[in-house]
Amino acid sequence: MLPVIRLYNYSASFQETSAKLRPGEIHIWKIACNGQSSPDSDILQSDLLPEETVRMKQFAHPKDKLRYALGHTTLRKLLCWYTECPKEEICIINAPHGKPYWKNPSQYPSVEFNLSHSGDWILLAFSLDYFLGVDTERIDTGKNLEKLAQRFYHPQEIKQYQNMDDSHKVSLFFHCWTIKEAYLKGLGEGLLHPTNEFYVNLSAWREPDTIYTIYSKDNLPTLWCAQHLPVSEGYVGTIAYTPR
Ligand SMILES: CC(C)(COP(=O)(O)OP(=O)(O)OC[C@H]1O[C@@H](n2cnc3c(N)ncnc32)[C@H](O)[C@@H]1OP(=O)(O)O)[C@@H](O)C(=O)NCCC(=O)NCCS
Repeated sequence: MLPVIRLYNYSASFQETSAKLRPGEIHIWKIACNGQSSPDSDILQSDLLPEETVRMKQFAHPKDKLRYALGHTTLRKLLCWYTECPKEEICIINAPHGKPYWKNPSQYPSVEFNLSHSGDWILLAFSLDYFLGVDTERIDTGKNLEKLAQRFYHPQEIKQYQNMDDSHKVSLFFHCWTIKEAYLKGLGEGLLHPTNEFYVNLSAWREPDTIYTIYSKDNLPTLWCAQHLPVSEGYVGTIAYTPR
């Protein structure tokens, strides 16, 4: 069965406006990060774990610090709110290739989540019964997309990219990229997994509700699907999921 995907804009009053996470749902939270609060503000820092504060400080640019701090404090807030687990018990661990997960104490429901950030936006995804990977990218026209497609895309995807008229190539490139990255983040492997060994059919990429099946290199459908998310003008986002 397909999940019900609900998209929310995050604000401090999130409890009043949003429903609790139910079986069969995926909740995506969009957090705007446009530099209005300071990354060094005590409020943000007091909600970070000591190791997160160390990591935040490693970013040189204030905007990157802020995005990191906002993403991680909001992630914990939402996990507490969904599960009613006190924030001190939300201890997030990284799997060997970096995928974060919460090893929930048995009295609290186990929640899958994933996080992505790019430019002015952070996406947080949650579900009770789907494994998840989420990705967002700011559309960057300064890259040599032809070369990147040749390097990272499956031959089927390269063909679809090359057959696209020039005015849509950039957008198609980023739609395809976020599907691939969301899938690899769902698997937990990230870009360590060869990106040209699986593919999606991009023929309906401009239709907003397209559900993509991820195909293996042997042309077999995997159990993973992906759907695009409306992030903001100039951004592309994708959620990839498979039943737990
Ligand atoms: C995971 C990866 C695809 C992220 O790509 P990105 O577009 O730069 O970043 P995104 O904003 O979409 O995602 C970053 C978030 O994904 C999560 N994440 C990190 N590694 C992950 C993984 N292997 N799988 C799923 N999620 C992961 C983290 O929450 C991270 O946020 P944080 O850095 O604030 O903690 C990329 O870093 C990667 O491929 N890593 C591969 C593993 C690797 O090379 N590790 C190096 C040390 S072994």
